[in-house]
Amino acid sequence: MDKLDQLVNEARTAFAAAADGAALEQAKARFLGKSGLVTEQLKALGGLAPEEKRERGAAINRAKTAIEAALEARRDSLRAAALDAQLAAERLDVTLPGRGPAPGGLHPVSRTLERIERLFHSIGFVIADGPEIETDWYNFTALNLPPNHPARSMQDTFFLDGRDEVLRTHTSPVQIRAMLAHAERHRGRDIMPDLRIIAPGRVYRVDSDATHSPMFHQIEVLWVGERVSFADLKGVAVDFLRQFFETEALQVRFRPSFFPFTEPSAEIDVGFMGGALEGRWLEIAGCGMVHPNVLRCGGIDPERHTGFAFGFGLDRLAMLRYGVGDLRLFFEGDLRFLSQFR
Ligand code: PHE
Repeated sequence: MDKLDQLVNEARTAFAAAADGAALEQAKARFLGKSGLVTEQLKALGGLAPEEKRERGAAINRAKTAIEAALEARRDSLRAAALDAQLAAERLDVTLPGRGPAPGGLHPVSRTLERIERLFHSIGFVIADGPEIETDWYNFTALNLPPNHPARSMQDTFFLDGRDEVLRTHTSPVQIRAMLAHAERHRGRDIMPDLRIIAPGRVYRVDSDATHSPMFHQIEVLWVGERVSFADLKGVAVDFLRQFFETEALQVRFRPSFFPFTEPSAEIDVGFMGGALEGRWLEIAGCGMVHPNVLRCGGIDPERHTGFAFGFGLDRLAMLRYGVGDLRLFFEGDLRFLSQFR
């Protein structure tokens, strides 16, 4: 084989062996550079006769052109391979579902509350509220729990240092606030229309386990009027519970109990006639006829008006409705739990 053909073959082999652009440029220098093998051939022309020189020069130029073509071809194929590699590495599956903002949802306790508000709204109750930092007077004294009354120990309380205030231990102080406002609104009139409120909100006690949280939610129900009786209390409570649990097959039991702010007082228990809780009685609410001292503190004449009240744990009802076993799950903010209620 002619020396030049051999050179072209060597160049092709060297270019093919270059794995990337840098290696290829080095191989190029070896053949086409200033002191490369092709240049060496051209320099050797000097010692030839003119006729020979023309032929040899043309042959060297053909070889040089062939080497340049081989170089260009290798450059192209390296570039194409690099692009393929990049495309493979940055591969994008446009058929995957988009990653838009995750839809939010109402907290299960809020859902339960909205449901309960709707039920009471449909029978003429309005929503009332009061502060979570409550004075001792509204939280205890006005509810017939004077200072040093032993029944105050029924509720483990967070007191505010050096102040006459507590984190309210129940929603019952809203009874007093609502009665005072109602009495004031209708002062001097012959007839005071009935007061019908529900007061949902956060309450606080020094208590923490699977069924007690230091912060939880209660709903207070209060109806004051001229002829409100225990029969009304039973009617409203039983009706509410049957609608809430969506079954007429719910048993409701009133068990005598004690609260300083009601007389007589009872606990309301529900019994399920089917499902996982079949045969069990669960304590749901405290209730009773509003004590005359409490009506008086609310600015209402106990000789003329009577009322009933009941209070229950909203979280407890949400747990029963959704079959949640641990109250703390409601307050941990874990999306794996919460997103199940969307
Ligand atoms: N406030 C009481 C409690 O938290 C419940 C209750 C409300 C009882 C209204 C009677 C009347 O335990």
